Amino acid sequence: MPYFREEEARAIIQDTYGHVRSDRAAVAEAFYAPEELARLPRGAAELALGVGHPVGHAALQPGEVVLDLGCGAGIDTLLAAFAVGPGGRVIGLDMTPEMAERTQQHAAAADLANVEVREGLIEEIPLSDASVDVVLSNGVLNLSTRKSRALAETMRVLRPGGRVSLSDLILTEALPEDVLKSPAALAG
Ligand SMILES: C[S@@+](CC[C@H](N)C(=O)[O-])C[C@H]1O[C@@H](n2cnc3c(N)ncnc32)[C@H](O)[C@@H]1O
Repeated sequence: MPYFREEEARAIIQDTYGHVRSDRAAVAEAFYAPEELARLPRGAAELALGVGHPVGHAALQPGEVVLDLGCGAGIDTLLAAFAVGPGGRVIGLDMTPEMAERTQQHAAAADLANVEVREGLIEEIPLSDASVDVVLSNGVLNLSTRKSRALAETMRVLRPGGRVSLSDLILTEALPEDVLKSPAALAG
């Protein structure tokens, strides 16, 4: 049985990520190469909140259309935008307006005209069927109260033969009830 209603969980997550601040790039330095970080505006690296490096496994090609689910401050969106080049396009999707705004600002600071940012839910992706070559996501699916819906939406927007590169948390044992009931644990 879920411990949080869907709207309640979303409010907690939006509040958490709307207020998140960082002046250290510890997460980014753990997962990304120094030469990748050197291409990014400082804020994009300092606000990296993922759990891996999905772009590193996506084999992105120039000209591809990429969707980054839960783009946060945009670290993977921006790296993908460099990889697909001016003939490609990267859509960063996030439900927290402050995060969507940050990706927009970081893309502008990196002079990337091939980034589009959408505010919205990964469970209701605001894109048409079969419109994306590659879906990325980093540390987001675990936050969804409707994971199967988010995965179904991912498959809907992917073109036939499209690719998915996800980094996320997995449980290897059941969590204790006090963790399951904790708003802080819910938001990561
Ligand atoms: C842990 S952060 C990861 C951000 C980014 N992927 C990165 O690697 O830095 C999770 C992000 O997902 C967004 N998010 C969480 N649940 C979401 C949902 N259901 N739909 C859209 N965005 C969501 C949050 O607003 C937050 O920006």
